[in-house]
Amino acid sequence: MKIAVAGTGYVGLVTGVCLASKGHQVVCVDVDEEKVALMKRGISPIYEAGLDELMKENMERLTFTTDYQTAYETAEVIFIGVGTPEKKDGSANLTYVYRVAKQIAEAAKRDCIVVIKSTVPIGTNERIEAYIHARIKHSVSIEVASNPEFLAQGTAIHDTLHAARIVLGVESEKAGKILKQVYADFESPILLTNRKSAEMIKYASNDFLALKISYINEIANLCESIGADVEAVSKGMGYDPRIGNRFLNPGIGYGGSCFPKDTKALSWLASFNDKELKTIKAAIEVNENQKFRLIKKAKKYYDDFDGLTVAVLGLTFKPGTDDLREAPSLVNIPLLLEDGAKIKAWDPVGMENFKKYFPDELEYCDTIETTLTGADLCFIFTEWQQILQMDISAYKMLMKHAIVLDGRNCYPVEAFEGTGIVYDSIGRRCINDA
Ligand SMILES: NC(=O)c1ccc[n+]([C@@H]2O[C@H](COP(=O)([O-])OP(=O)(O)OC[C@H]3O[C@@H](n4cnc5c(N)ncnc54)[C@H](O)[C@@H]3O)[C@@H](O)[C@H]2O)c1
Repeated sequence: MKIAVAGTGYVGLVTGVCLASKGHQVVCVDVDEEKVALMKRGISPIYEAGLDELMKENMERLTFTTDYQTAYETAEVIFIGVGTPEKKDGSANLTYVYRVAKQIAEAAKRDCIVVIKSTVPIGTNERIEAYIHARIKHSVSIEVASNPEFLAQGTAIHDTLHAARIVLGVESEKAGKILKQVYADFESPILLTNRKSAEMIKYASNDFLALKISYINEIANLCESIGADVEAVSKGMGYDPRIGNRFLNPGIGYGGSCFPKDTKALSWLASFNDKELKTIKAAIEVNENQKFRLIKKAKKYYDDFDGLTVAVLGLTFKPGTDDLREAPSLVNIPLLLEDGAKIKAWDPVGMENFKKYFPDELEYCDTIETTLTGADLCFIFTEWQQILQMDISAYKMLMKHAIVLDGRNCYPVEAFEGTGIVYDSIGRRCINDA
């Protein structure tokens, strides 16, 4: 089929490339000329495992352009995958979605289905359809359908090609039939429903996962106070199939481009409809506090950070991505700098993006070893494989004071016994052998 995708971020580009890999002819549209120039050369502008390779393998079915007019003119299906960031009041900013909708209304010269993949508040598909109908330039029929995206950054290609489910929210048989054709070569179960339910499935799923994380984080904090081990607790809970063992890893809070904004957007939507989502509100509050858990712990070891050298391992909001949106590093590092700490940081793929926020304030290091050398304190913000696999004796050998505050529970606590390293993690006993 002839498909256009608006937006080439984590969702749009992955969608475009995966659809091309299934034989569709796909044109990917973005307003960012630099990104488009890179993609035309077969280079992905974002870091996502396997994306570059899949893109290169399917270049004959992929084109990249800023020329939306030509791209939308003859497409049978147009996916919208642009951002829906958070507004100051917590609601979703739909400016980019509406902009694309306007462009489609002006450009489309054949009947088509517009598919909203971006996460949008319940009722948006309906409104976008009315908005397009009011602006259609040529004599064509355009229907809007919802197809929310559930991929996780870091495993986006796998999540798309082997989706746990494909949710299609449609209001006509015709739209359902066309979308089923788009996904004919995917083996995932398809849930066909109406648009509002599809939109709600996305928010309800994301917010539930955020809730699960905040729940285990609260349990972890209590475990620390009463001497239980959250790792055993999570494991014990996870055996229960009603609970499941995923998203039960405690840490310093969720980040990324989805959970923070999607919890706030649903909460906003509820209050706009005179309802209160108490559980979601609690998840948001717990997460805000959890981000400062390590810095609070650090106060056990130092009264203030003035003049200290602090090593930071991991900057991105999770491993496998270069994305920094809502990453705990972004709220903790300014606090450390403000208090006079000298920061040395390492991240395998996130440093270039971090430099956009802090070009000169940190010392960016090429290796974990250089980062640790001479440090008074080490914060682990992201559980990168390189950190999990390193020999922990490096902390003792290289740091001035071997104090490791691990926000992602990268190592078994027992490994630090008798090492002379202070190892303080989340929800587990603290080793203080120094
Ligand atoms: N990132 C994720 O893990 C994830 C997962 C599921 C759902 N989502 C949702 O998908 C949507 C997109 O998220 P993302 O992370 O891919 O965003 P992103 O910010 O990475 O990418 C958005 C892209 O859209 C482009 N763009 C903006 N206006 C445009 C226009 N008029 N025409 C064409 N391109 C335009 C931008 O230049 C950018 O490249 C959001 O609603 C998000 O909530 C994201």
